[in-house]
Amino acid sequence: MIKFTIITLFREAIEPYLKSSMMEKAVRKGLAEFDFVNLRDFGLGPHKSVDDTPYGGGDGMLLRCEPVFAAIEQIKASDPDAKVIIPTPVGEIWNQSLAREFASQLGGFRSAAARDLAREPRGDGSERRDPECDANSHYIILCPHYEGYDERILSIVDYKISLGKYVLTGGELPALIIIDSIVRLIPGVLGGEQSAEIESFSDGDNLEYPQYTRPEDFRGMKVPEILLSGNHGEIAKWRSEHSGQVK
Ligand code: ADE
Repeated sequence: MIKFTIITLFREAIEPYLKSSMMEKAVRKGLAEFDFVNLRDFGLGPHKSVDDTPYGGGDGMLLRCEPVFAAIEQIKASDPDAKVIIPTPVGEIWNQSLAREFASQLGGFRSAAARDLAREPRGDGSERRDPECDANSHYIILCPHYEGYDERILSIVDYKISLGKYVLTGGELPALIIIDSIVRLIPGVLGGEQSAEIESFSDGDNLEYPQYTRPEDFRGMKVPEILLSGNHGEIAKWRSEHSGQVK
């Protein structure tokens, strides 16, 4: 089980995605859990303020320390091992091997069959707990907004992650990208896996060979002959020749 607690002022910008498609499936299968904490609840004064102007001058508002520390400390009070991620343009650039690392910190599941067996209800109807299924990871994603954040916030952050060399309005889109790219690697989330081993992803995903579905001929654009041949060896060779690797 991987859990993400998302600290944000804009839950409505994030939640619909996590309630759709594969993310929803991961939750339904008990493989992922998403929780939200409203930073405003920890705001200061009658206006529940969470930001202020920068010392030394400059445009815009910065996220203040007090609400952020209070929110994170409250989450960590019930799970001291939770790790804090902050999306920021000055972080380490996110990529597939980082996503793999985060997904594999789950401790590794056994086969999907073993996991399903472990989940079968006991005679009394309660769920059977398999110790290996109890391997948990909990990440707190702090979504900054406004022009930035007080630098001292970084003292309680474990991972600074950048989605690329451009500046976004806030941490909500990066949070979704980080979550999606990790959760899809958890065995059982995507359909048709040959193996539930995280290791099966470690030699790169052959995502980039061209793929085709019906019809064979669409407006004169034909599916390559080899893919219709039924010759699995030749198809594998063609795919390998035409593929790029996710690094
Ligand atoms: N916040 C604003 N821009 C960002 C980026 N490029 N990556 C991560 N977080 C951000």
